Amino acid sequence: MALVPARQILEEAKKGGYGVGAYNVNNMEQIQAIMEAAKETQSPVIIQASRGALKYSNFTYLGYLMKAAVIENPDIPVAMHLDHGNSLESAIKAIEIGCSSVMIDGSLLEDGKTASDYAYNVKVTKSVVEYAHARGVSVEAEIGTLGGIEDGHGIGDGPVHLTDPKEAKKFVEETGVDSLAIAIGTSHGAYKFKGASNLAFDVLKEIRGLISIPIVLHGASSVPKALIDEVNKYGGKMPGATGVPMSDLQQSIKLGVQKINVDTDGRLAITAAIRKVFVESPEKFDPRDYLGPARTALKNLIVTKMKDFGTAGHAKDYAPKSLEDYKKFYASK
Ligand code: G3H
Ligand code: 13P
Ligand code: ZN
Repeated sequence: MALVPARQILEEAKKGGYGVGAYNVNNMEQIQAIMEAAKETQSPVIIQASRGALKYSNFTYLGYLMKAAVIENPDIPVAMHLDHGNSLESAIKAIEIGCSSVMIDGSLLEDGKTASDYAYNVKVTKSVVEYAHARGVSVEAEIGTLGGIEDGHGIGDGPVHLTDPKEAKKFVEETGVDSLAIAIGTSHGAYKFKGASNLAFDVLKEIRGLISIPIVLHGASSVPKALIDEVNKYGGKMPGATGVPMSDLQQSIKLGVQKINVDTDGRLAITAAIRKVFVESPEKFDPRDYLGPARTALKNLIVTKMKDFGTAGHAKDYAPKSLEDYKKFYASK
């Protein structure tokens, strides 16, 4: 078994100077595709479930599917992660189904929409750190607010606040989190920029100079034009969709980002593949005839990302540590 806390995967990535994708999952095919890619490229990997995904799958199903990914791939370091937890309760539920890592997104209130204040963020984050660390589970927090909205989570068209580097430093010291998600101009979803991408690399550099824990970039899908063209070709309607170019992500990794969150690109790969089957083979009605190609398309996409982020080849660099190891580590601090 190589279920490891995300802290180890990300600290190793920091040492090695590469990025690790955290890929959102909702169902079996997505999990299998990501794990096939990790196996083929020998990459450590973070599979993450949002609150929406856990609700959709009724928690237990997704928990066991993620555990199956760990069991089936004993040589790959895998972290099971809660994406955008909104409360201590959400973290507790995720840990109960086996997550080795949780995010508490205290940059927003519990409604997942309204921007919170610093004091609220510190308070809710500390409560999760205390609970999770006692069980060896890693904690990711967020400071600053991203644009975009996914399944009700996110600030939508509300004000976007880039992370204040000094506040980030203070926040890390006050909360004891293991990794920090920052806002440098990315946003969730398939419509990230009106014109060219415009990330605040200067802010990232300043934050990296002030904090030593791994840094996380949300909203990091590239929204490849080829996938959008494919979706539109087969009846989709996604005019003007744009994402973060891979070159910007690679620059972010060079400047000190370790965890790169990707959901939208996976959705696009799946949608394009399914649309293609429906248009080209309208006689087909066995779900395996379209979910199979969707799984292959997602695997191919993730293989490319694992190579581009520099994750490929790092699966056997280190001996995986357990939650028990980290429980002892936190207790000794
Ligand atoms: O950041 C959010 C992720 O893209 C998850 O989206 O809440 O629709 O599952 P979701
Ligand atoms: P994308 O919408 O850019 O894929 O971002 C996903 C994300 O940040 C999940 O937490
Ligand atoms: Zn996110």
